Amino acid sequence: MKLSGKTRVLGIIGSPVGHSLSPAMQNAAIDELGIEYVYVPFPVEPDYLGQAVEGLRRLGVWGFNVTIPHKSTIIPCLDKISPEAELCGAVNTVCREGESLVGYNTDGIGFLASLREDLHYDPSGSSVLLLGAGGAARGAIAALASAGVARIVIANRTRERGQELLEKFRTVFPAVEFILSSLAAPELAGQLHNADLLVNTTSVGMNGTSFEYLPLSELPDTAKVYDMVYVPAETPLLGEAKGRGLTCANGLGMLAGQGVASFKLWTGLEAPRAVMKRKLLEGLER
Ligand code: ATR
Repeated sequence: MKLSGKTRVLGIIGSPVGHSLSPAMQNAAIDELGIEYVYVPFPVEPDYLGQAVEGLRRLGVWGFNVTIPHKSTIIPCLDKISPEAELCGAVNTVCREGESLVGYNTDGIGFLASLREDLHYDPSGSSVLLLGAGGAARGAIAALASAGVARIVIANRTRERGQELLEKFRTVFPAVEFILSSLAAPELAGQLHNADLLVNTTSVGMNGTSFEYLPLSELPDTAKVYDMVYVPAETPLLGEAKGRGLTCANGLGMLAGQGVASFKLWTGLEAPRAVMKRKLLEGLER
């Protein structure tokens, strides 16, 4: 990597950021294209978020990613946010545009890219059963609704949280049918029956945990399964889906996809997705 007085600095703010795979992934893309950028981790504690953002602004940092726990709290520190970021209530990418810092959300783009490339799934006109109602669910719902899904069933442990999300998105996307479900029998079994795609947006599956009740035998044979979790690479949900012969993918492609979209926003260039995905896999194997 060549550094000079003209090198543009990119980075990621979060707490912690030590585990982030984005520096390795983004620097691999930078190296591949031979452009004069560098991507560095910036650990930022929640109490100092405002000062850190002002610091990045004054230091002329070219752009940065935002991760846990700053994705929502950064919004008041920025000059402008994109409609997607507004809809999701979360920013994962910041760009310098003239004197302004503008917030974007590329998680949805990454999710759709991964559905397309890893599952060969076209959401348009389809029926999706989505597990969870947190920040990740919000991004997925916004992306799916924008891509023209016909029906989204939100199944969440805490029903009120699912209801809140459903009401919000129903008004924004009147053409999409939104349905609320519990994570319990027999309601969930009925919803599995009608799903073209099952998406897990919850943290269930990390550390090998599994859903108490999720009878995949109720899914149609043609259904596909997407788990946003990527550590472990094969969650119990994906293991079971594979066992049933269903096409499935974990969240690694989404991580690469959001990185590709952020890279494009900062550099205007098409990022080498395959190189980035390989780097992520290497990072996970360590
Ligand atoms: P994120 O931003 O990653 O989505 P979040 O906003 O904290 O994180 O949301 C976590 C989601 O995982 C929620 O839908 C949560 O369900 P609740 O709304 O009932 O809390 C879901 N979740 C976490 N642990 C779960 C578990 N053991 N079983 C079912 N759902 C779980």
